[in-house]
Amino acid sequence: MVVSTGKPNITLEAQRTLDRLLPRLEVEFAAVAKRQPKLWAQFLSRLNAHFPRLFGILLHLYGGQYDFFYHVESLLSIMAKSWVSREKSLKALDKAREGQPTWFQDHKMVGGVCYTDLFADDLAGIQRKIPYFKELGLTYLHLMPLFQSPDGENDGGYAISSYREVDPQLGTMEELRSLADELRSEGISLVLDFVFNHTSNEHTWALKARDGDLHYQNYYRMYSDRVMPDAYELHLREIFPDEHPGVFTYFEDIDQWVWTTFHSNQWDLNYANPEVFNQMANEMLFLANQGVEVLRLDAVAFIWKALGTNCENLPEAHMIIQAFNAITRIAAPALLFKSEAIVHPDEVAKYIQQQECQLSYNPLLMALLWNTLATRQVNLLHYSMANRFAIPEGCAWVNYVRCHDDIGWTFSDEDAAALGINAFDHRQFLNAFYSGTFEGSFARGLTFQENPKTQDARISGTCASLAGLEKAIKEETEVEVDLAIKRILLIHNVILSIGGIPLIYLGDEVGTLNDYTYRQDPAKSDDSRWVHRPTADKLRYAQREDGETVPGKIFHGLKHLLQLRIETPDISNEQPDFVGTGNPHVFGYLRSGVEGDILFLNNFSDETQVISKNVIRLRGLALPLVDLVEGDEYIKDRDLVLGPYQYVWLQTKS
Ligand code: GLC
Ligand code: GLC
Repeated sequence: MVVSTGKPNITLEAQRTLDRLLPRLEVEFAAVAKRQPKLWAQFLSRLNAHFPRLFGILLHLYGGQYDFFYHVESLLSIMAKSWVSREKSLKALDKAREGQPTWFQDHKMVGGVCYTDLFADDLAGIQRKIPYFKELGLTYLHLMPLFQSPDGENDGGYAISSYREVDPQLGTMEELRSLADELRSEGISLVLDFVFNHTSNEHTWALKARDGDLHYQNYYRMYSDRVMPDAYELHLREIFPDEHPGVFTYFEDIDQWVWTTFHSNQWDLNYANPEVFNQMANEMLFLANQGVEVLRLDAVAFIWKALGTNCENLPEAHMIIQAFNAITRIAAPALLFKSEAIVHPDEVAKYIQQQECQLSYNPLLMALLWNTLATRQVNLLHYSMANRFAIPEGCAWVNYVRCHDDIGWTFSDEDAAALGINAFDHRQFLNAFYSGTFEGSFARGLTFQENPKTQDARISGTCASLAGLEKAIKEETEVEVDLAIKRILLIHNVILSIGGIPLIYLGDEVGTLNDYTYRQDPAKSDDSRWVHRPTADKLRYAQREDGETVPGKIFHGLKHLLQLRIETPDISNEQPDFVGTGNPHVFGYLRSGVEGDILFLNNFSDETQVISKNVIRLRGLALPLVDLVEGDEYIKDRDLVLGPYQYVWLQTKS
């Protein structure tokens, strides 16, 4: 949903506004323009190119405010200041990226994500891990929130008190900048969160609001009685019902109800206030200037509120992001956005476009990989991917199997119904299966945010524990251990071969199990997501070299796939053709490539499965085929046999 800014009257008005405001900006930056005329000209040219789009959105959102043009003018100044202070090396990167805007679609892109403290103690530790990141072949490193946040419960750093100060336990801004530089020189892009839906209650804006400063109270959504909160709550979903009922939190000292979608120390910002928009744009550009190449836009769905709606995924939320996108094109063109929308797949898709978020998590694929492991039936996965994997050109999915958050079963009820699956019942089954209460389940997960009102729940747990490794090890059954390892590798195989950027939740590559010690920490014990956020296990990492150990088996299997991916340029970003395999347990997709077509088959059952030779022939693949994974020559006019959880990449032998 791109806001139409092409209407001649808006373009004209944008031009007029620029003509009126530019001379003042040029006075402000006269010294720069004189000293570095080329640099200034570059800014002006990008401004001319992208301002009409930006202006159209701002006019729509804020045009009714009496001081609208004042805000437009301060935004111009924010952008110019940011551009002028942007490092030379980043300006060079801007140019390079403009010349190759889809650089992230390369088959060599591989992402990793970790917590700085849990993985390496601090930023200096992360720097020392660069050889390991390279060993894995990472080109993208997402460090979980590392800015200042309240002591104790702070939602894993998602309650941010300052976007400009690193948590002193992790390091300094200076270190962050030099880390970004060093990563870049090693071919790794730094990814950080932009937590822009809320600040912590200790951010200076919140402190001032709490002091009674009306100006800053208008940065948030605060109400002196329950009238508006009650009216809003008629339509709102509870995100963290364990922490507080509803969406508002009452603060006695100020006698106000504050909008807190997530935790009570995470105060939702009021984007209806143009000053909030500008201030956050300023923080965003500040982050870009530290050398961050991708911002993960946190909780995008929630940023705009309107009475009578569920306040999720509103058109204005898209406009805010599109406006931020236009601002980056003007003042930090190398920067990309990744959308974190964990909502209905129709809504997830709407955030993905070149002028909004170029990248997006793929929560549907993630949830359905787990769904398919539980049911051993690929119908919903196949149906959903065939209908929903396609995204606009110039964009990419970020495909993952686990992250720091819970698993929400965000498949579409309509898709499920089309296959005769009752979505409500099925989610109950999945929660029972992954919390290990379902008879015969291999999984050891925990429920998260069970809501008795809606009977909704989500699932926490590490990849390995959810895939059966924890149970198998406890019960000392070698066969089960082997199956668990195969499950882990199978779902990683899908994210590595389906197209888009695969993202590994570090720890998963060595089969890290659930860590229940969070229960002893009062700041964490109410949040089961901590079960899958353990400190990096040194022993596991040491064992990764030894192919006889469990961590070693997982690591070797994964490394092999990573290597294969890097050697196979045909795993481009383009969407594969999701093909029926004639077997309800086998998920298949076909890619055409320069070196010949490749058919990917994934057996989601713990039993041997057969694919009829006719299926292979019908796909037009010439015999013989070679499986790139095992190197086996696969078919000589015979049916194809796949072992339990086996995956193959079949290519016509040239
Ligand atoms: C995002 C984060 C999650 C956090 C929430 C609030 O969804 O992934 O961990 O709790 O935003 O910031
Ligand atoms: C909800 C939100 C998502 C967040 C998650 C955290 O699903 O939509 O943004 O990651 O809660 O549990």
